[in-house]
Amino acid sequence: MARFPQYRMRRLRSSVAIRKLTRETAISVNDFIYPIFVSYGKNVRQEIIAMPGIQRLSIDNLTAEVQEVYDLGIPAILLFGIPEYKDKLGSDAFDSTGIIQQAIKAIRKQTQDILIITDVCMCEYTEHGHCGVIKNGLIDNDQTLDILSKISVSQAKAGSDLIAVSAMADGQVAAIRGALDASEYTNTPIMAYSAKYASAFYGPFREAAGSTPQFGNRESYQLDIANIRQAMNEIYLDVEEGADIIMVKPALAYLDVIASAKKEFNLPLASYNVSGEYSMIKAAAQNGWIDEQRIALEILTSIKRAGADMIITYYAKEVANWINKNN
Ligand code: PBG
Repeated sequence: MARFPQYRMRRLRSSVAIRKLTRETAISVNDFIYPIFVSYGKNVRQEIIAMPGIQRLSIDNLTAEVQEVYDLGIPAILLFGIPEYKDKLGSDAFDSTGIIQQAIKAIRKQTQDILIITDVCMCEYTEHGHCGVIKNGLIDNDQTLDILSKISVSQAKAGSDLIAVSAMADGQVAAIRGALDASEYTNTPIMAYSAKYASAFYGPFREAAGSTPQFGNRESYQLDIANIRQAMNEIYLDVEEGADIIMVKPALAYLDVIASAKKEFNLPLASYNVSGEYSMIKAAAQNGWIDEQRIALEILTSIKRAGADMIITYYAKEVANWINKNN
């Protein structure tokens, strides 16, 4: 490369048109997955205090919301269920008439072509709020695998298009792949929350999903925030176990992990722009301290630039509106 003054970097920044041509990363509505919280009850549309613009919806209000998401061009939703009753095993999660199973069926009737992704975990369904079966005060990994498998098959049976497993149990992808295949859901793909960190950024989600652990924390199963080698090993194992899509979560504070995963693995890579990342922008914007639209677009672009092929984001609808308006 020539040096200054023969070479001037500013030449390629000198007009809108040339900046458009040389832009390396563009986010599109095609990249987005929109998370939705499904609540029990009737006519529920309950604002989540720490996540302005995001609500818990009962099934009767859900179908119109999903249709709106689809009409904006967003290809997929990710469903989280909030059951009426929680118990030790989170049994609503694998009940054929559970909250998620009902939600999937209602959505499918209304909006055929949207991709329905369902979260497979126990924390929203258990009275203790942990992502597994508790034995002697500890989370029992191998018993958890049986429950996660049951949840996955039950969701697939109800019509889920993609199983997203977020419990961070060792062996969960292999167990679920085996269970799905044994139940003839060989074509149902698995998205593995492979590198999921024990992050404080999940705070607002736990309010939304009512999934705060009632004792202790998640540090015995989710990744230490300081580690990247373990993240690569987690992803490696999930690839070996048959994951179709891998994930890094959260996104913003883990761009280095996204970039490494992109380099090392040849599978579609998702990243979850989690609740706390959303809340921080919203709070600052509501105070008039930042330009919400530019900040949100900058962050989402950085997640894509780091290497994410798809982004799970609470901003999906708003950004789709902004993008659609500018085209
Ligand atoms: C667990 C789960 C969590 C999130 C998605 N799935 C929370 C947790 O591990 O405590 C967090 C997502 C977010 O913060 O937006 N089922």
